[in-house]
Amino acid sequence: MSFIVAIDGPAGTGKGTIASLVSKKFGFLNVDTGAMFRCVTLEIIRRKIELHEIEKIEELLNKIEISFKEESNGQRVFLNGEDVSTEIRTKQITDIISEVSKIPQVRGRLLELQRDLAKGQSIVMEGRDIGTVVFPNADVKIYLDASAEERTRRRIRQNEEKGIKMSYEEVLESVIKRDKIDSEREIAPLRKADDAILVDGTNMSIDECADVVYKIIEEKM
Ligand code: DC
Repeated sequence: MSFIVAIDGPAGTGKGTIASLVSKKFGFLNVDTGAMFRCVTLEIIRRKIELHEIEKIEELLNKIEISFKEESNGQRVFLNGEDVSTEIRTKQITDIISEVSKIPQVRGRLLELQRDLAKGQSIVMEGRDIGTVVFPNADVKIYLDASAEERTRRRIRQNEEKGIKMSYEEVLESVIKRDKIDSEREIAPLRKADDAILVDGTNMSIDECADVVYKIIEEKM
């Protein structure tokens, strides 16, 4: 029997780290759906497609292949066979990703790919709409939250590890703007599913947060 853990929440709550820890502890496949939206955004930029050119976007979506691999330096993301793990984190991508994520065709295609990934295996999937739309029947639903200031500090540390330089103000502004667009969009907005368990990590370390999540999963298993 496969087991599905859905983790949703705004940018910078540590969803990625928690999902990765959960995947290691329980041996589940770890799927970062934000990375999938980032791959589509990268491909749109590379092909110089404007966001209103829906036919070109549909064509791109028909050909796109996204996969994940666990390596010693963490999880790597492959777009049509190419490792794009670093390239999908740039400001150029982050600046327009919320607009790309609003496009119904993009959400529809990624929804199919996300559900396919879960066929026959246990997974932990993190994003914005996993518990509400992608897997409304997930075995465990977690909604991870934290204050915008704390999330900004975490994103800056993550960026530094990846060699990306952005000021506190720049990151805070981008976090707030993205929260707003993500939670106000018409299709699959960011929101806590009614039956998701809220975990507020503002005053918790990642390990403390992970322990809370482990307990919730263990109780359900
Ligand atoms: O988790 P992240 O910061 O890499 O996500 C990038 C963007 O992708 C986020 O601002 C909105 C979009 N996204 C989405 O719309 N739905 C998801 N399930 C995951 C991400």
